[in-house]
Parts: sequence; structure tokens; C-alpha cells
Amino acid sequence: MEKIAVLGTGYVGLVTGAGLADFGNEVTCVDLDETKIATLKQGKIPFYEFSLGEVVERNVREGRLSFSSDLIAAIRAARTILIAVGTPPGAKGEADLSQVFGAARTIAEQMTSYKLIVQKSTVPVGTGEKVLRLVESVLAERGKSIAFDVASNPEFLREGSAVEDFMRPDRIVIGTWSPKAEHILSGIYQRFYLNETPMIRTTVQSAELIKYASNAFLATKISFINEMANLCEAVGGDVKVVARAMGLDGRIGRKFLHAGPGYGGSCFPKDTLALASFSRAAGEPSKIVEATIDVNKRQRRRMLEKVRDLVGSLSGKEIAVLGLSFKPQTDDVRDSVAIDLIKLMQKEGANVRAFDPVAMERAAAELRKVEFAEDSYSAVKGADALVIATEWNEFRTLDLTKLLRLMRQPAVVDCRNIYDPATMEQAGFRYVSVGRSTYVPDRSGAPASGGVKKVIASTNGAGGKKKAGARRAGVGRKK
Ligand code: UGA
Repeated sequence: MEKIAVLGTGYVGLVTGAGLADFGNEVTCVDLDETKIATLKQGKIPFYEFSLGEVVERNVREGRLSFSSDLIAAIRAARTILIAVGTPPGAKGEADLSQVFGAARTIAEQMTSYKLIVQKSTVPVGTGEKVLRLVESVLAERGKSIAFDVASNPEFLREGSAVEDFMRPDRIVIGTWSPKAEHILSGIYQRFYLNETPMIRTTVQSAELIKYASNAFLATKISFINEMANLCEAVGGDVKVVARAMGLDGRIGRKFLHAGPGYGGSCFPKDTLALASFSRAAGEPSKIVEATIDVNKRQRRRMLEKVRDLVGSLSGKEIAVLGLSFKPQTDDVRDSVAIDLIKLMQKEGANVRAFDPVAMERAAAELRKVEFAEDSYSAVKGADALVIATEWNEFRTLDLTKLLRLMRQPAVVDCRNIYDPATMEQAGFRYVSVGRSTYVPDRSGAPASGGVKKVIASTNGAGGKKKAGARRAGVGRKK
């Protein structure tokens, strides 16, 4: 059992703190924001994260997890201190590390015995060393010679499934510069020895880079498949089939190959920018990451073009938007495509009515003049177009007849490819999705060969039969 203080009760800090307590460690989660601590002490979680409430409640009840705004006491009581504070993007895309260095300085000013300072927040390569030097210099100013170590232990938690990701990780990365630090951190994650979770023991710099490289690679996969989707629209292919077939190659893997409106959230946009920024600063600019960022920006605008293509000028049009969070299972609207798209559509004169199962309150703080509906059907009433911006499960099973009856114009832009183009057309919708053309060449003038291939887009081997000569949803972007 290790005594741990977690500095920062944001999403990473709280999930990590609760998870480590669940592994039997004694954890205090610290935040200078007293209101937040008061909320947590009342057993309330300040954001929506599936099953986090249960884990917090269990560990508080069993005495392994507590909350405090007394930073000094927490620093002195713990041997291991996890820094999980925010690293928002600075003006040029670089990560703003002032909170990280602030926390490190306070630890150095207050420590009276050995501390293992573990960096949890995503920080550029080299930050661990800067923290090391900072703590050394503060201790020197204090005239104290107290042993300490700095380590990097990046997290790979996805919002919406963070607790599950914490409990069943693909790997644990432990970056240290001393056997003692490695020993302590390995002990904290001891429970993973049982199920043989790979444990990567490496230096602090490698650990820092692993985090950025992983996120940037996933973001690159997304931008890549979005480019293929756009190509499908131009040449008449179906990106869902292309992605599935690509993904069946074990070397490529099927995950993160869903074409859509581009990635959002608090991680990929920020981390790709930061990686691009510190690669440039290191004299090794990353062309791939730069292109990933660029493609992502363009993909968002493309969603606006899709709406325009379908309904013409947006001025005075009623647009329904389903989904506001940057992805399902979270109320996080940071860098959400939905929010961006709404602002762009409003700029062009559209009136927007929106619905999201959990993110409306947070979205309201970001948006103006949006009407929030009680459910999907109230959102689409009288709409000239429906934009599906986030793939919440409940949007996958809408009653299409009811939808058609309620809307003023039967136009749907499905940014997440959750509906089948043929089904939507048969139901009477003008439907546009991302990269899904079912084009086959027109053979009507040719003598019947009896051999015209009709199954042109089937992801599961069943259904997907389209009439030869049909040119359908997803194609026809005006050039
Ligand atoms: C991401 C990583 O997946 C985590 O491993 C990492 O720990 C986390 O960032 C972080 O750095 O803290 P998260 O931002 O919660 O997690 O969300 P993802 O599920 O990765 O999705 C990110 C964005 O990519 C979303 O906007 C999602 O809609 C989009 N996406 C994802 C696609 O457009 N296509 C895909 O195939 C997958």
C-alpha cells in the first residue's frame, strides 16, 4: 500500500486517484478549487464519466480515498505525488505548463522527506528534466538536501470508458531514472502482474514521447481515413467497406478507422498541436502530424459544405443538431465538432435547435441563441435539415417515419455514418453521410449481359444490394 497524493481533480486526476485507491493504495485527491472539493466530499462527481461515481463512492466508504484542498498537508503525508493538473494549449500550440511547474515548485518548497514526483498530465518531452532541475534548485535555495525522484507515468484513458481503461489497460508505461522510483511505481501497479498486463519500463523522456506518439498516431489514422472518405466521394467508393477491409489486416488494425467530421475532444487536437510545436522546436518538424492537423481542420468545414449542398443557403433555415459532446458517453464539449459546426451554421444565418442526452448544460455555456430540445423528436420538429453530429446510441434507432413526418424538409447530414444510405433513401430522406458512395457505372444503354454486378457495397456480406446505375448518398459534392 502506497500513500499517494494526486494534484488536480480533473478527469485524469480523479479517475487515476479513484482507480489507484481501488487497487488498495491510500489516496488523497487535492485541488485548490474548494468548491470542487466540497462537491466531491458530498459524493458528487463534477463531470459525467461512466461508473466513476461507483468507484469513488466505494473507496471513500472503505477509507482509501479522500479529498482535500490542503495541498501542503497532502504533500507532506504522501510519498508518491502524482501531478495531474491541466496543460491547456498556449498561443502557438505549445502546452502551457505553468500549472505543472507551479505544482512542482510547491512540492519542492514543502517537502520534508523523500518524494516520488510522478507526471501524469501530458507534457512535452523534456518536461520531466525541467521539473527535476526546478525541484533541485528550490531545495538548494532552501538549503535542504532531501532525496526525490521524478517519473513519467502517462495515461491512456478514453473519456466515456476511462474507468474500464484504467482497470484493464493495454499497457502500463513507467518512465524513471532510478531503480527506487521504478520500484515504487511498479508496486503501485502490482495488481497488473496478475493478469500479465505489459509493463513498459523506460526512461522519463521515452515515456513522455510514448504518450504523444500514441495520440498523434491515432489522430493520424483518423485523418487518413477521412481523406480516403473524401476520395470515395470523388471516385465513387464506400469508405466503410474500405476501412473494414483495411482493418482486417492485423498490421493495420480496425480501430480508429471510422470516417467522420474529424477528431475533437480535449486530447487529440491539443496533443497533435503540442507535438507539432515541440518537434519544430527540436529541429525535427513532423510533416505527418502537421498534415493530420490540417486535414482535421478541413474535415470540419466539409461538414458545413454538406449541409449547404443539401439545403442551399443556410440563411433563415431551421437546423436540428443531434449530439453536442465531442463523442458519445461523455458530457465533454471541449473542441467538439458539433459546437464548431453550430457556430459556423449560425454565422451563415441558420437557426439551430439541438439535443444531447447529457451535454446540453455544458454546451449552453459555449453557445448562444441555440434552442435546446427535450428529446430528438422535439429537436427535429419543423427542421429543414437534421445534422447528426455525435453517435449516441439513441440516435441510431430513431423512428424514421416519425422523423419524416416532423421535419419540414427530409434532409439528413449524418456526420457519423450511423445510418444506411439505402434505408434512408427508401424511407424518403435526402441523405448525405461521409465517404459512402454506392455508385456503379450506368449500363442501361448496353445489351443485357446478365452478368452486371449488383452487390457493390456490403460490409457484412448480406444486404447492400443496389440498383445498377444508381448514384447515391455521399457522392455529388459540387466541385
Ligand atoms: C484519447 C485517446 O483515445 C486515449 O487513449 C488518451 O488517453 C486520451 O485521448 C488522452 O490523451 O487523455 P479521448 O479523447 O477520450 O481519448 O477520445 P477518443 O475515443 O480517442 O476520440 C477522440 C476523437 O476522435 C473523438 O472526437 C472521436 O469522435 C474521434 N474518432 C475516434 C473518430 O473520428 N474516428 C475514430 O475512428 C475514432
